[in-house]
Amino acid sequence: MDEQNTVVPVPAPVDPTPVSPPDMNAATPEWLVQAANGAPAPEVVVATPEVPAVAAPIPEQVVTPTEKKNLFDSFKTGFLSNLTQLDKSKEKITQEVVDGKSEATKMTDQERKDLIEAEKIYQEGLATIRDLIAPSSMEIRYDSVQVGGFFAQTFYVFSYPRYLDTNWLAPVVNFEVTMDISQFIYPIDSAEIMKTLKKKVAQMQSSIHMDMDKGKVRDPGLETALEDAEQLRTEIQRGQEKFFQFALYFTVYSDDEKKLQKIAKQLESLLGGKLVLTKRAQVQAEAGLNSTLPMCLDELSVIRNMNTSPLSTTFPFSSSTLTANEGILYGVNRHNDSLIIFDRFSLENANSVVFAKSGAGKSYAVKLEILRQMMLGSDVIVIDPENEYEALSETAGGTYLRLSLNSDRRINPFDLPAPMPDETTQAGDILRQNVIDLLGLLKLMLGEMTPTEEGLLDRALIDTYSIKGITMDMIDPSTKEPPTMEDLYSVLSSMDGALSLSQRLQKYTTGTYGGIFNKPTNIDLSSGMMVFCIRDLDDNLRPIAMYIILNYIWSRVRRELKKRLLIIDEAWSIMQHSDSAKFLFGLVKRARKYYLGITTITQDVEDFMASDYGKPIITNSSMQLLLKQAPAAIEILAKTFNLTEGEKYILLNSGVGQGLFFAGNKHAAVQVIASYGEDKIITTNPQEILNQRKAA
Ligand SMILES: Nc1ncnc2c1ncn2[C@@H]1O[C@H](COP(=O)(O)OP(=O)(O)OP(=O)(O)O)[C@@H](O)[C@H]1O
Ligand SMILES: [Mg+2]
Repeated sequence: MDEQNTVVPVPAPVDPTPVSPPDMNAATPEWLVQAANGAPAPEVVVATPEVPAVAAPIPEQVVTPTEKKNLFDSFKTGFLSNLTQLDKSKEKITQEVVDGKSEATKMTDQERKDLIEAEKIYQEGLATIRDLIAPSSMEIRYDSVQVGGFFAQTFYVFSYPRYLDTNWLAPVVNFEVTMDISQFIYPIDSAEIMKTLKKKVAQMQSSIHMDMDKGKVRDPGLETALEDAEQLRTEIQRGQEKFFQFALYFTVYSDDEKKLQKIAKQLESLLGGKLVLTKRAQVQAEAGLNSTLPMCLDELSVIRNMNTSPLSTTFPFSSSTLTANEGILYGVNRHNDSLIIFDRFSLENANSVVFAKSGAGKSYAVKLEILRQMMLGSDVIVIDPENEYEALSETAGGTYLRLSLNSDRRINPFDLPAPMPDETTQAGDILRQNVIDLLGLLKLMLGEMTPTEEGLLDRALIDTYSIKGITMDMIDPSTKEPPTMEDLYSVLSSMDGALSLSQRLQKYTTGTYGGIFNKPTNIDLSSGMMVFCIRDLDDNLRPIAMYIILNYIWSRVRRELKKRLLIIDEAWSIMQHSDSAKFLFGLVKRARKYYLGITTITQDVEDFMASDYGKPIITNSSMQLLLKQAPAAIEILAKTFNLTEGEKYILLNSGVGQGLFFAGNKHAAVQVIASYGEDKIITTNPQEILNQRKAA
């Protein structure tokens, strides 16, 4: 410790010559020069009257370059020697502390040993996570490891066939046993491998030549090897392929030794059937187990050479069931953690149904699909009864239409679509179809009707159109201005026996619900995303609004063939009335031809299935997503979807965003997963939304 205060040896004193102001060394007072020579600084900093103040005028004097250099040199020497001294002091103190000789840690060797021992005993007595998860024992045997009550056996691949198909690992990934698979991929420098390949090629070529010289029969094996090596050389040179070393290990587990042997044989034959030959990690059982634990330790180190193409076939996210090359990610397959990537437009029809109890994540899953589908260029139209899609629409740059009695957005149900360009439309077809749809709508609006009333209404509708010059002999009536509800009302009022009908219709023309459905349409189907919000409509008006919106969308969709998704959230309200349910079913049935995928979302399975059109809508939807279900609904679902006991169990015990995904006849347990960014856009969690609003 004393050393710290030792005065540093001072180099030969330099004449403290004051310097002229414009010079670099201007205003160098004596104290500074002394400091430069290694004199202790504190003495200088305290400005006693004897020491000239910094600001004191300095007589002008010329300094020669030699003098300047001397000054600088002495400054440097002093500084460096100070630094060395400081370092030495530091080392000394550190050593003292380590040896326990320091004043601060005066402790005898014995005391120190006791302290360390006590600390050790204390630490040993603490229960750590490791203690909790560690098995009570581990027995390492000749070819297996027993961990607690479990037996584990490891296999390594030592030979691959000449050709590997894509997906060859899928049967192993889907093999229904507890198994860990690990792959180690070591990239090899292309230049290095090119040198080796060149040598090999030369060897093989000379062997072939020698055989030829000796007049031997040619060796096809050698020729094939030469061809392969040459091809690989070309591809590596062109940068099309890279070279790797690859290790592949499997560890299977079982609680019973006999079962383990059986599983081991099955695995061997499964891989053997593909000419991928394995061996059991004998005498290296522990190294084998370690190599398949998620610790990135390759203790077995059985590596094989492989170039990019065959290596890519070992990509493990390729469950044979639901991973396609195109489409979007729907979630993770909970059976084997592979990805469910799928294009719904590749199925017989692109319709889907989503069933789950409230809060299970239906809207979330569908919104995620919308976001991802839009990236692939699909247009999306949403009927949103809960105002849940606004944030999504804003982010995606969509149009958000709020339909309510006070809003000025109007859709006229009398609008007529133009005929499809490539369809053979007969005269009157379009008008007839629209009259049928309008009859369905009016039944919904006016309530039950007698057959006579239906007949009257049918006639009234045709008359209403003809007032505007639209008749059954026209092929394309969309060029004419369509009538409105008001026109129908005046026609009905003037008809004999239609008093009740016109009275009931009055509610929608001049009555409480007037305005919303009896004016010409003033919106257009924009591209991208379009959301119709009907939350602000009265409960009685909702099914009617949905019907009208659907009809409108349908007529517009047919104008231009384009990949589109139509999402109907809370569809049970449509299914409550048989007329609207029938209309929806009609759309679902015909959607495929117009490149439209209809997604029907519902939480009320019973209501949906109670309708005659519930089941047909499901059978006409190739994709189905079932998330967490209430016990009350499970039986009816099980019957509709032919669920197994295991699948029923999954649905009852699913968490949020978990369930079953059906595409055609393929089933998978799914976990819907969004990225952080996606979650921010689609969440309906009130707490999260509140936080986001605060942050904004
Ligand atoms: N896969 C998921 N990952 C994370 N959070 C999710 C997931 N799915 C849903 N959630 C969250 O769960 C909540 C309910 O989800 P969602 O609104 O989609 O339910 P819902 O089934 O549409 O309910 P409702 O029938 O009442 O409309 C939301 O807060 C949502 O953010
Ligand atoms: Mg919802």
